Amino acid sequence: MRLFKLNTTLHKWLSLFVGLQLLIWLGTGLYFNLMDHSKASGNELRVHSHHEGNITDFIFTPIKDITSEAPQEVKLIWILHQPYYHFVFDKGQHSYQERHSKLFDAVTGKPFNLSEEQVLTLAKNSYSGEGKLATPVLSQPPFSDHVRQQNPMWQVVVEDENNTTIYLDSITGQVLRHANDDFRLKDLMMKLHFMDYGNSGGFNHWLIIAFAFATLFLSVTGVTWLIQQYQNGLLKLSWGSNRQKVSVTFSNENTIADVSADANSTVLEGLASSHVYLSSSCGGGGTCGKCMFLSSTQLPITLSEQEHLSDEQLKEGYRLGCQHRFSEVSSIEVNTDLNIEYHELVVVATNFITPFIKELKFKVKSGKRLAFKAGAYMQFEVPAGMNSLRPDDIPENYEKYWESYSHGRFSHDGVIRHYSLVNFDEESDELTFNIRWQTAKDGFRAGIGSSYLSSLQVGETITAKGPFSDFYATSNKKVRRIFIGAGSGLAPLRAIIFEQLKKHHFQGDMTLIYGARTEEHLLYRDELNSLSEQNKNFSYIPTLSNPSEQWEGHSGYVQQVLLNHLVKGIQAFSTEFYLCGPEAMMSEVEQIITDVGIPSNQIFKDKFSR
Ligand code: FES
Repeated sequence: MRLFKLNTTLHKWLSLFVGLQLLIWLGTGLYFNLMDHSKASGNELRVHSHHEGNITDFIFTPIKDITSEAPQEVKLIWILHQPYYHFVFDKGQHSYQERHSKLFDAVTGKPFNLSEEQVLTLAKNSYSGEGKLATPVLSQPPFSDHVRQQNPMWQVVVEDENNTTIYLDSITGQVLRHANDDFRLKDLMMKLHFMDYGNSGGFNHWLIIAFAFATLFLSVTGVTWLIQQYQNGLLKLSWGSNRQKVSVTFSNENTIADVSADANSTVLEGLASSHVYLSSSCGGGGTCGKCMFLSSTQLPITLSEQEHLSDEQLKEGYRLGCQHRFSEVSSIEVNTDLNIEYHELVVVATNFITPFIKELKFKVKSGKRLAFKAGAYMQFEVPAGMNSLRPDDIPENYEKYWESYSHGRFSHDGVIRHYSLVNFDEESDELTFNIRWQTAKDGFRAGIGSSYLSSLQVGETITAKGPFSDFYATSNKKVRRIFIGAGSGLAPLRAIIFEQLKKHHFQGDMTLIYGARTEEHLLYRDELNSLSEQNKNFSYIPTLSNPSEQWEGHSGYVQQVLLNHLVKGIQAFSTEFYLCGPEAMMSEVEQIITDVGIPSNQIFKDKFSR
C-alpha cells in the first residue's frame, strides 16, 4: 500500500516538473518559429567596416625581434588602417574561452594598447543607427549579454530605442557582438529552451541530466501505476464501447425494450441501471433465488441456480440475474410485475429526531410484510397540492434552528421521490424513513417530497413502490467494512449495519464514520453508541463540523477523519466502503479511497438525492 502511494505521489510530482518544462519548451519553440530572425540576431544596425591598409606603405619589424616569449599564434591584423602583430600566448579551443594575448605595433615593434578613443571609433564604424555612443568601458566577465565569453571585453553602450550594446575584443578591438533588446529576448528564450537556468552558456549540464532521469522515472511510475490500476480493477481494457444491448421482453405487459448496460455487470445490475428491477432480497449474493429471468440462449448453470431453481425451470432456460454477466445474454424475458409492487402505506409514527429530520414509520395497509435487503429504497408518489414552507409541529428545543425560515404555503405538481429505508426487513414490520426537510432560506419554496411527507399525520396514507435494492452489503464474510455518511445519508448505512450485526451476525470489522453539524444533528446517536458497546467488531465515529465546547469526539468533516483512519493502514483488497451523503462529500471520499488503491468494485454508493 505504501509503495503504491509512493509511486502515485512520485508520478504526480514528476508530471508537474516534466510538464512545466514541456510547456516552456513548447512556448519557446513557438517563439523560435515566429520570431523575426534578423531582429533577434541583434545585428539590425550593425555594419561591417574595412580597416585594412596597404602593406607596401609600411616597413615591418621582424616578428622574431618583438619578444622572446614564444607565442602559440601570431597574426598581422589591421586596426583603423594601421598594422599590428597579434600575439596569442595561451588560447582555448574556442574564441570565447579564456586566452592570453598581446598587441604589438608592427612598424615599431612596441607593445600597443588600444585607447578608449580608438575603441569608440571602431564601435561607431560598426553601428549605422542614430543612437549616441557612450564612453567605452573595459569590462571583465561574466557578461549577462554574452554568458559564455570568458575574456575581458570593451563594452560600448548606445543610447537608442533598442538599447544596443557593442562588445569589442579587449586586445584587438574586433567587434564581437551587438546586443539589443530583441537579441536579449532571444537569449532568454534560448536559456529557457535549453534549461540553461544556471547561465552556463550550454546545454550539457547536470539539470538536463536530472531532467532526463526525471522523465525516465515519470514513464516508469506511470507504467507501474497503470499496472496497479489494472490489477485493482480500475482500468478495464476494452476495444470500443463496453456496453451491451439486450432485448428484454416484459412478460407481464407483453412489451419488448432494448436495455443497454455495462457488459461486465451482472444481468441484475445491468437491468437495475435502466430501472428494470428483478426481485432480490440477498442483494445479488445468490442466496435468495429471487432474481429470476428467462434466457433465450443456453447459459451455464451455477451452484446457486442448482440450489434455487427446479430442474424444470433450468431446462426451460430460467436463470438467476446475479449469476450471469450482461455480456452473456442477448435476449431475455423478465416478469417485473412480480417484483415491483405498489403499496399503500399508513403512517404509524412521525417524530422530529434532529432539528431538520423527521423519522416516519409506516405499515403496509394490506398487512403484507415486505422482504427487502437492507439499504433498499422506496419510491413515493407525492400528489400535486399545497405544502407548508416549514413544519407546524417543530419541537420547542429545535425552534431556534427554524427562526430564519418563513411561514407560508406553496403549490406544486405531483412528483416521485425516493427515500432509503432506515431499518432492515426483519427488524420490525414497520418501514422507517428519515425525511430531511429540504429548506429554502428565501422562503418561497421547500422540498416538495420532504415537506409533503413530513407533514403527514398518523393514520394518513401514501402510495409507494418498491422496495428497490441497488445498495446493499455483499455476501462476503471475510471483508472489513467502512461506512461513511453524513446527514440523513445515515439511513441506508444504519440499515445495513444493523442487518449485518443482528440478522447475519457478521464477525468482520465494521466502522461507521458519520458527519453532522452539532450534537443535536446526530441521528440515532444513543442507539449507535450502545451498538458499538455491544459489538466489539463495530466502531462508531461521530464527527461534528460545528460542535459545542463540551464535545470530546472528532470535529471537522468525515473526509479528514477518514484520512486519519486510512493512515493507520488498511487492507485494500479486503475492505469495502459504503458511502451515502451529500454529493460533494461522496465524491471527495471516493477520491480519497480511490487514491489509496481501493478498487471500484469495493466502493458502494447510495446517491443521496435519488
Ligand atoms: S439470488 Fe438473490 S439476487 Fe440473485
